[in-house]
Parts: sequence; C-alpha cells; structure tokens
Amino acid sequence: MVSFKRIPNICITTYISVFLTFTSLVSAVPLTVGDKDSTCAAAKVVADGIWNYYEGLKYGGVVGMFAPPNYWWNAGEAFGGLVDYYTFCDPNNDTLKDLIFNGMYHQAGENYNYVPSNQSMTEGNDDQGVWGMGIMQAAERNFTNPEDHSWISLTQAIFNTMNARWDTSHCNGGLRWQIFTWNSGYNYKNSIANGCLFHLAARLARYTGNSTVYLDVAEKVWDWMDEVGFLTEEDNGNFRIFDGANVETNCTDVTQLRWSYTYGIFMAGCAYLYNFTGDTKWQTRANEIVEASLSYFFQNKIMTETTCAPFNKCNNDQRSFRSLFARCLGLTTLLMPETESVIAPYLEASSAAAAQSCSGGSDGVTCGENWAANGWDGVYGLGEQTSALEVLMSLIVQEPLSVKTGGSNKTDFDAGTKAKDAINKNEIVVTGKDRAGAAVLTAVVLAVILGGAIWMIF
Ligand SMILES: *[C@@H]1O[C@H](CO)[C@@H](O)[C@H](O)[C@H]1NC(C)=O
Ligand SMILES: *[C@@H]1O[C@H](CO)[C@@H](O)[C@H](O)[C@H]1NC(C)=O
Ligand SMILES: *[C@@H]1O[C@H](CO)[C@@H](O)[C@H](O)[C@H]1NC(C)=O
Ligand SMILES: *[C@@H]1O[C@H](CO)[C@@H](O)[C@H](O)[C@H]1NC(C)=O
Ligand SMILES: *[C@@H]1O[C@H](CO)[C@@H](O)[C@H](O)[C@H]1NC(C)=O
Ligand SMILES: *[C@@H]1O[C@H](CO)[C@@H](O)[C@H](O)[C@H]1NC(C)=O
Ligand SMILES: *[C@@H]1O[C@H](CO)[C@@H](O)[C@H](O)[C@H]1NC(C)=O
Repeated sequence: MVSFKRIPNICITTYISVFLTFTSLVSAVPLTVGDKDSTCAAAKVVADGIWNYYEGLKYGGVVGMFAPPNYWWNAGEAFGGLVDYYTFCDPNNDTLKDLIFNGMYHQAGENYNYVPSNQSMTEGNDDQGVWGMGIMQAAERNFTNPEDHSWISLTQAIFNTMNARWDTSHCNGGLRWQIFTWNSGYNYKNSIANGCLFHLAARLARYTGNSTVYLDVAEKVWDWMDEVGFLTEEDNGNFRIFDGANVETNCTDVTQLRWSYTYGIFMAGCAYLYNFTGDTKWQTRANEIVEASLSYFFQNKIMTETTCAPFNKCNNDQRSFRSLFARCLGLTTLLMPETESVIAPYLEASSAAAAQSCSGGSDGVTCGENWAANGWDGVYGLGEQTSALEVLMSLIVQEPLSVKTGGSNKTDFDAGTKAKDAINKNEIVVTGKDRAGAAVLTAVVLAVILGGAIWMIF
C-alpha cells in the first residue's frame, strides 16, 4: 500500500470531469434503516459494484487482485467485507462463495502466510495485517475452510510472521511500516502496522481461548504505542492515535495525522480483549477510542475521513479507510453491547447517507466518497464501494465465532514459524533483476513523496 499512502491523488479531478458526462439512470440505492432485507438489497447493489474492479474474472487477470490503482492490500480489505456480505445476506450463493474463497486463498503465498513473493515490491506490515483481518473474518464467520490450511491457522501464520519482525533496534520496539529493506518507508514505524498486530492478537486470543502469547503481545504493542507517543491523551480527554515516526529520530518526530481505520483497529482490538478477559482496562480504552472516533471522524453523524476528505486530498488508499473503520465499529457494538446505543445512531445516519450517495456512474448506482453530498459527488472507486458496503454491514453485524461457539478448531499455534519462512525476517531472496527494479521503484516513490510533501503541511 503503503509506500504511496500519503501521496495526494491527483487523478480525482479527472475522474470527476469524465464521470459527470454520464447521466444518472437510477436515483440511488433505496434503504430502510432497521430493515435487514432492505439493508441486504442495498448491499447487493453495492457489492455487485465491487466486482467491477475485480481482475480475477478477466482474461489474463490474477485471481484475488483488483484493478490498479488498487494495491494488493485493498484486496484483503475488500474480501473481509465480502465475507460478511456473503454470511449476513447471501449465504446460499455458491458463485459468490467460490469467488471469495478462490480470491482469498490464491493470495496466501508460497508459505501460506500472506507474503506472496510477487508482492515483495510493495508489501508492508500493514498490508499483511489488513489481509490478516480479512482472513480472521473468514474464520470468525465459519466461511468454508481450505482443506489443508484453515483460515484460523492462516491468521495465526500472519500473526506469527508479523510478531517475529518486532524490532528493538530503534524506538525500544515496534514494527516497522515496511517489511522489506528496499521499500521506502522501511525506516518508518507507524500505528497502522502495529495496530494490525494488536488487533490480530486480540481476536486470536478470544477465538482460540489461549491467552499465552496473544495477550502478552497485545499488551506489548499497546504499551509501546503509549511509550513512543503514538497514542496520547490530551488534557481535554481527547484520545488521539497518530500516524507514526522515523527510526532516525528514535520515533520522536511523530506525524500527527489521524486516520479512521487506525482508530477502528485499536478500538475493536480493545473490545475483543475486554470481551475475552473482562479486564476493565480494555473497556476504558475502547470507550475512549469510541468517543474520540465519533467526535473526529463524523460530521453531523456522517462518517468522513476528516484528515483529507474535506480538502479533496484523499488518495486511493485513504478513500478506502472507512471500510475497515465501519467494520470495527460494528464489531465493537456487539462485543461491548453497552456501546451499541452510543454508536448505532452514527452508523445509521452514515448508512442512509452512503446509500443515497450510490447514485452515480454509468450504472446509476456507483457510490461516492462524500456521503454528506446530495447524491453522488462524482468520485468513484473500489474504496467508495467497500466503504459503503461495510457501513451497511455494520447495521446487521453478527457475532464473531470462536472455538467455543462452533468456529473451526483447526488451530496451529506455530504456523508461519517453520524454517523455510526466512521471508518473515526480511530475508527474501531477490534476483538482481528484482533488486534493480526495486531501486527504480524506490527512487520514483521518493520523488513523488518529495513532490507531494507540501500536502503534508496543509
Ligand atoms: C450471486 O453472487 C454473484 C456474484 O456476486 C452475483 O452476480 C449474483 O447476482 C448472485 N446471485 C443472486 C441470486 O443474488
Ligand atoms: C504472482 O504473479 C503471477 C503473474 O502475475 C500470477 O500468475 C500469480 O497468480 C501471482 N501469484 C500470487 C500468489 O499472487
Ligand atoms: C528511544 O525511544 C524509546 C521509546 O520512547 C526510549 O525508551 C529510549 O530511551 C530512547 N532511546 C534513546 C537513546 O533516546
Ligand atoms: C461478549 O460478546 C458477545 C457477543 O459476541 C456478547 O453477547 C457478550 O455480551 C459480550 N460480553 C461482554 C462481557 O460484554
Ligand atoms: C461451520 O461449518 C461447518 C462446515 O460447513 C459446519 O459443519 C458447522 O456446522 C458450521 N458451524 C457453525 C457454528 O455454523
Ligand atoms: C475439533 O472439532 C471436531 C468437530 O469439528 C471434533 O470432532 C473434535 O473433537 C474437536 N477437537 C478438539 C480437540 O476439540
Ligand atoms: C497456547 O498457545 C501456545 C503458544 O502460542 C501453544 O504453545 C500452546 O500449545 C497453546 N495451548 C493450547 C491449549 O492450545
């Protein structure tokens, strides 16, 4: 993803001018909030739109990938939402099931840890972690398991390989943003990568009922985030989670940007931990993040990516963040039922706003970015579709399973730690050709980052 995460998307205006020339055929996706059938009917229209970006059905396309400018991580993000859609709304649709199953399993990679070698040019810890959230979603939904590798064991492999990269050489700990040394961003440690590790630890603890490693890791990540000041509580009680910092400064130059999905990932992680342990420390933390999220990422109860959207500065990655944010808000309402009455009005208002924004494009049902706009705002893409889908799913979210409640017990606590997984430790073997390519890519990325740096200071 991620090397490109902070680069403004200069193409948005182009999309707008091209697409305004289409006339809308249908007014919007109808939605009656509170009615499950209506929610699923709306979700079907939105989910069908997601497949328009899918490469896996195209001649020569790779199964499990979505069309550029979407990166590999966006696929993991999309499949997590599609698993929910299939489970809640269309569980007898074998065509849909096969599409999701094949896409998710094909990208597991040679070592079944979601570090496929042909993503080594761009894959970061957060990319693997977001795939981990999608695969965990499959486990918790009892989605048809692969014969040889259950979804839960695949998630454990993702967790183990990420945790093995914990790096104490700078900043007294933390995961780096990137996995591979040649990727721009290797010297940056950030909240989303560490948040993914925290989040997976929390869900694996609850799912497996085994607290041995998972609880310790969750504690370790939270305490480290606090120590380096990526998490901070302002005097006015406003809880904040910032973007990250560079290892060269020992993580003291904290970039104070806030993103919705980071809040969601930590919030739901705390909710899982509280639900599993009953430790009120996690309850307090979850509530603080809920409160901060509702005040920062909503305007008139409508969800918005506050750091970039009001300025039309969201890049392709950022335009998808609300999908994971919405998913995590929905999960939190279930795992901490006392938050339901607080969060639900925001999800309901956002769902209604999202549905009415799905009225654009040549099909008349393409979703927009700014849900507060009257109708479609002219922006379209996979991120707009997945964000709309997930906010709808958050209204009808179902309890995540665990081994105790009937989820698969095919766990593998050592998954991903076997010897051949040198890839875990940034030791992937690269050919000369790849290395040259990576150097060029790094140079290009650096150039773009420098060119786009102005944007960071807006
Ligand atoms: C089943 O899923 C496919 C793929 O998403 C979709 O095209 C089709 O309309 C669905 N079938 C029904 C009956 O909803
Ligand atoms: C890797 O890339 C090749 C060529 O694009 C593709 O055929 C293959 O499916 C990819 N493998 C994975 C695991 O994505
Ligand atoms: C680097 O940062 C960590 C985390 O804040 C801190 O514990 C450590 O003392 C710092 N090291 C130096 C040399 O400043
Ligand atoms: C834990 O989550 C379940 C739903 O998965 C919920 O029914 C239960 O009330 C939660 N427990 C606590 C202590 O909040
Ligand atoms: C999970 O899926 C398996 C296989 O399809 C099925 O036998 C089992 O009943 C399901 N469990 C739950 C709790 O839905
Ligand atoms: C795992 O689940 C299967 C049924 O899905 C059951 O037969 C088996 O006894 C379980 N194993 C353990 C160790 O609980
Ligand atoms: C719990 O997890 C630890 C380490 O991850 C593992 O060694 C142990 O076998 C697990 N215990 C059970 C009962 O599964």
